[in-house]
Amino acid sequence: MPDTIVIFGASGDLTSRKLVPALYQLFRKGRLEEPIRVVGFSRSEFSHEEWRNKLAKSTADFVGESFDAEKWKQFAKQIYYHQGDIGKTEDFVALRTFLEGLEAGESALRLFYLATAPRFYEPAIEQLGRSGLADETNGPRRVIVEKPFGTDLASAQELNHSTHQVFSESQIYRIDHYLGKETVQNLMVLRFGNTIFEPIWNRNYIDHVQITVAEAVDVGSRAGYYDQAGVLRDMVQNHLLQLLMVTAMEAPVRYEADAIRNEKVKVLHAIQPLEAGKVSTDTFRGQYRGYTASEGVESTSRTATFAAVKLSIDNWRWQGVPFYLRSGKAMSCRTTQIVIQFHAPPHKLFADTPSDLGEANRLVIQVQPAEGIQIHFQTKVPDAGMHMRQTDLNFSYQKEFRGVMPEAYERLLLDALEGDASLFARADEVEAAWRICDPVLEAWKEKDRPTLMMYDPGFWGPDECREWMLEQGREWFDTCPVLG
Ligand code: BG6
Repeated sequence: MPDTIVIFGASGDLTSRKLVPALYQLFRKGRLEEPIRVVGFSRSEFSHEEWRNKLAKSTADFVGESFDAEKWKQFAKQIYYHQGDIGKTEDFVALRTFLEGLEAGESALRLFYLATAPRFYEPAIEQLGRSGLADETNGPRRVIVEKPFGTDLASAQELNHSTHQVFSESQIYRIDHYLGKETVQNLMVLRFGNTIFEPIWNRNYIDHVQITVAEAVDVGSRAGYYDQAGVLRDMVQNHLLQLLMVTAMEAPVRYEADAIRNEKVKVLHAIQPLEAGKVSTDTFRGQYRGYTASEGVESTSRTATFAAVKLSIDNWRWQGVPFYLRSGKAMSCRTTQIVIQFHAPPHKLFADTPSDLGEANRLVIQVQPAEGIQIHFQTKVPDAGMHMRQTDLNFSYQKEFRGVMPEAYERLLLDALEGDASLFARADEVEAAWRICDPVLEAWKEKDRPTLMMYDPGFWGPDECREWMLEQGREWFDTCPVLG
């Protein structure tokens, strides 16, 4: 019996750019254990056929060469459209009747995907409860909630509370698409599937960690949303903290959703709160020049498009090892990388033994787009006395595995269909992440500390941020990955 996926917000970008292409890829690769039906729900008027045709076009555009018209035809037979309004209970009752017709009285999994604007999450969940669509008599029911999950701690708590009125925690899948990226999962493999890294993965060997998510693009057409959110809500509270958790967590006792999430959330609990005083010294914010000229942005907007945050983790492993998180739009290049910066050697044996960190060992995890891992280390230059130079061991996904990297949404949708929540955020995890960001948001709003620095598009953010790092005896690893 096929599983049923109902997408709310069916006429939106996420559905056509990410969700349907990912489902099609899973179908094409034969990865689905059970066949699926996809039902789109939104206010726009479409017949089933019109929606299928629209999706055929967008899917062909987004999956490129792997689009196979014959396969799409088979897949599209199970795509349906149901017009409706999230505000109207009768539309949900009609949806229920429609699904019951498709399922013909047989038991089926229903996976509800909230791909709407965030203000519709709560009403949609309420309607699912009220209309009986969440009732599990005839099969399991699950709900996927897109980010952002709340805009601060209070709103996230409120959303958790209302979601729990209809679904139990084990039915809720809060998505952070960074966890669906192969390289982020590989970070767990690097740490827990090998023996050589664990002994040095701590304060005895590591000076600090840098997590950078730089984007070359600016806010583009999303200014309306972005100007309210800013970089802290858009990237740091979710994607960067997820990367931090996977980097810093202890090994879970087994590869299982709650065991993993228990370890992740412990990291968040161990992060020293950034009280108001610390916000001015340990955070940094910037805005690229030209941002306020974007359509939908007030000319006086003080929204940060760049942030750097220094976090301390108060536990046995990480005491004294700062984690620097940094993200920005309109930067030099698109790169997501985690840099593990090791201490410099304790004794200067060779004339040019590094005494500063820039030349000390470094492990660079290239999350995207040049997926891979590099270890930087010193090598003797031949025929040059004891002169040394930094070289690297380079693992590249592209060279090793050749294939195209799957989109994060493929893995996440498959896991949600199979009931594996390991790569989804739990209620307490989302709230703990807001608890870290709230004081920063608060201080940035209330006081002009730290000052909002301007930066030119196409570089690594404000110059002052480089100086801020240098004052701490450290340097950002500002290197664009080599593609190809
Ligand atoms: C989204 C943010 O969650 O992630 C966007 O809202 C950002 O602003 C995007 O551009 C980045 O995702 P990726 O997968 O391209 O790194």
